[in-house]
Amino acid sequence: MSPTESKVLVAIQGVHKKFLHEGRSVHILRGIDLSIDRGEMLSVVGPSGAGKSTLLHILGTLDLPTAGRIHYEGQDVTRYSPSKLAAFRNYSLGFVFQAHHLLPEFTALENVMMPGMIRGAERGKLEKAAKELLGEVGLGHRLTHRPGELSGGEQARVALARALVMEPILVLADEPTGNLDSKTSDAIHELFFELNRRRGTTFLIVTHNNELADSMPRKVSMRDGQIESDVRRDVHSGPFRGVDLDRTSSPPPPLDPADPPG
Ligand SMILES: Nc1ncnc2c1ncn2[C@@H]1O[C@H](COP(=O)(O)OP(=O)(O)OP(=O)(O)O)[C@@H](O)[C@H]1O
Ligand SMILES: [Mg+2]
Repeated sequence: MSPTESKVLVAIQGVHKKFLHEGRSVHILRGIDLSIDRGEMLSVVGPSGAGKSTLLHILGTLDLPTAGRIHYEGQDVTRYSPSKLAAFRNYSLGFVFQAHHLLPEFTALENVMMPGMIRGAERGKLEKAAKELLGEVGLGHRLTHRPGELSGGEQARVALARALVMEPILVLADEPTGNLDSKTSDAIHELFFELNRRRGTTFLIVTHNNELADSMPRKVSMRDGQIESDVRRDVHSGPFRGVDLDRTSSPPPPLDPADPPG
């Protein structure tokens, strides 16, 4: 990184999201400001319905905000054409969802190679990268297994390798280990940290797992479509202490009386 380059990877400002439901507007995100630095690891927590997945979709450019801006490395991606946005998303972001969506007729190796195949990457290089990643997630001995011949935790690890194969700048994970046993999820969480240390990959992880959230250097808590707290933890000072170092979000805007919540 050159000294003039900003350390901010993505910044969203004044993001609102409304959905139209049965002819009525439902106001879900109510003024979100969030800035994520390169190489950061943060968790997003909060009760069911708080808007965590909605926020993740907007950060991932899978959905557009009703109002507000999203800047990736200073570029306002909300102004991109649909094809430019799709290319940006494919090249720069990695997604890990609870439902892995692995292709059942392809092997673990082929599934991991798939994003690169779609983008016309050179096969030899791609295969090498995919094998390396599968090795890193502990599946070097399962390359030729199809999803139906893998355990749930192994499938999750294949999906993680697939999310990483194009070396995304940001990995967005939505309850990635929500349906796995605690030993397997601990191993995957450890892998997130290892990849962050080794490759500098930025991770945003939506989770209901308090232990995971508290083990991460930054924890963003959401409630009712707003950021309730944004806490950074001094990673060198031992157990999580919950010191509120920078609460950057401005107070929520007044609600539009013509547009009741819920
Ligand atoms: N397409 C949609 N149309 C209408 N309402 C929606 C739509 N998508 C989400 N919502 C509503 O937005 C709210 C926030 O949903 P979201 O999925 O972001 O919650 P969440 O914080 O991820 O919850 P959970 O922890 O249960 O996954 C919910 O009340 C949901 O019903
Ligand atoms: Mg959710």
